[in-house]
Amino acid sequence: MNILLINGPNMNLLGSREREIYGSETLEDLINWLENSPLGRKQQFKFFQSNHEGEIIDILHEERDWASGIIINPAAFTHYSYAIRDAISSINIPTVEVHLSDISNREDFRKVSVISPVCIKQISGLGKNSYLEGLKLLLNISK
Ligand code: DQA
Repeated sequence: MNILLINGPNMNLLGSREREIYGSETLEDLINWLENSPLGRKQQFKFFQSNHEGEIIDILHEERDWASGIIINPAAFTHYSYAIRDAISSINIPTVEVHLSDISNREDFRKVSVISPVCIKQISGLGKNSYLEGLKLLLNISK
């Protein structure tokens, strides 16, 4: 599959941001781990991280003919970006929403995802395994 993996704001600081919540691995570590996992090795990936809402929307538009599945950690945009939600629902590509932390067990504002209604599933709280589970799900539905 052609997998577009998108990470939202502040995910570039993984490894140093709030380590007690997000762990000590960097985004690069996470990407290398996923890409080199037995399942990951069989896929084509494009990786994108941005702190800007519009850039995330642009990449969804630009890659809509290439991507056969999307894994997105919208980070804080999860909780209020109707624009990213509309972009996902505009392009009709199976999309999984993932989170490192368990957003259902944190502050109230994190319990709401405006993105999940347009995704096939939300996977939260498994650390980097949330991304791997997201990949497995995309592979299963594409069979
Ligand atoms: C996050 C959870 C979000 O609430 C937060 O804003 C993030 C990271 C996660 O992966 O656990 O930046 O998406």
